[in-house]
Amino acid sequence: MRVLVIGTGAREHALCAALAADPSVDHLVCAPGNPGIAALAELRPVDAASPDAVAALAAEVAADLVVVGPELPLVAGVADAVRAAGIACFGPSKAAAALEGSKAFAKDVMQSAGVPTAAAYTCEDPESAAAALDEFGAPYVVKNDGLAAGKGVVVTNDRSAALAHAADCGRVVIEEYLDGPEVSLFVVTDGSTAVPLLPAQDFKRIGDGDTGPNTGGMGAYCPLPWAPADLVPSVLASVVEPTLAEMAARGTPFAGLLYVGLAMTSRGPRVVEFNARFGDPETQVVLPLLETPFAGLLYAAATGTLASHEPLTWRDASAVTVVLAADGYPGAPRSGDVIDGAEPAGVPRPGVLHAGTRRNHDGALVTSGGRVLSVVGTGPTLAAARDAAYTLASEITFAGSQYRTDIAAKAAAG
Ligand code: AMP
Ligand code: GLY
Repeated sequence: MRVLVIGTGAREHALCAALAADPSVDHLVCAPGNPGIAALAELRPVDAASPDAVAALAAEVAADLVVVGPELPLVAGVADAVRAAGIACFGPSKAAAALEGSKAFAKDVMQSAGVPTAAAYTCEDPESAAAALDEFGAPYVVKNDGLAAGKGVVVTNDRSAALAHAADCGRVVIEEYLDGPEVSLFVVTDGSTAVPLLPAQDFKRIGDGDTGPNTGGMGAYCPLPWAPADLVPSVLASVVEPTLAEMAARGTPFAGLLYVGLAMTSRGPRVVEFNARFGDPETQVVLPLLETPFAGLLYAAATGTLASHEPLTWRDASAVTVVLAADGYPGAPRSGDVIDGAEPAGVPRPGVLHAGTRRNHDGALVTSGGRVLSVVGTGPTLAAARDAAYTLASEITFAGSQYRTDIAAKAAAG
């Protein structure tokens, strides 16, 4: 099968690695991709947010399956255009991707479906925002309704900062604060059958000990040794099945990857957010543990045949990823710094996934974005996986490099 992956980050690098390892894939194309993905796939330029451009490229490369990595193309309707061209696509329609594209829409679906989540109000003016903040009290949670690349949510004890964020955004969701560890559960679905992957945990703040501003994600690990044994079946029953049924009843079935972001509160799991695509960096730790051929799984979801897909099998191992970020991230990152150690003697190093990298005029690998690399360690235990990831992190250098030193530390220590 010929597979086209849309996107350019470390998540897409991980998707390409898993697809390339599936013997049923005989040609892999990634658009636009990055220098790391170039070792696994043919790279093609594309305007990933243009449904027509992606559909035309899919036809040109004779793709049997298109896999859309990021949310922006999905919310723009890329999956609809690819399917309209008669090509199977892993990724929800524009209408279904609103589960990620609009926080207010997601809340409405959760309320109709009876899904456990934070109580919330959608507010469009300062008076209603102030009233909602005062009803819930501190800590205040204010979410931009629309896509904001991981930067739309403010959690603060400062009422005036919460009000200011609401005023900046216009339309916001203000909700009850949820306490407890977070879990990311990925579910592959064709709209009716749901196949859960292993739960993972990511680290959203820039600094050790969960300090500093939110980022796109600074590290992740999988599996979760501390998670309750019934976590996945209970979330399937209380969250995933009712949500898929509600989306189908609305005439907009959700097919693709449903990312369920959960807070494990004292009253049980509560949905913090839905995303309509694989999470970054969790994908980098979930996929290395999957034994089942990946392209076959995504193709079954894209063609409505998941019910007859074989059960998934997993390696008895652990994975940890650490994100190496550029100087200045999550503010304006500096770019153009030479990266050493990622490809000794020109050979890509296993476990090094590229995000914000490019080649300069003489072919040297340089930084070109906030999150630069995502290094992945695997091993028989979380502690071994962690050691492997941090060894890689310490051996790859560029000016201004910053990374957290506590990814998976608590979980590995038990
Ligand atoms: P979201 O984009 O909705 O996932 O929000 C980004 C991050 O903000 C989440 O991963 C949480 O760490 C935090 N957050 C979002 N909603 C809440 C909430 N209701 N209570 C506490 N923290 C939250
Ligand atoms: N890891 C958070 C996200 O992908 O949105």
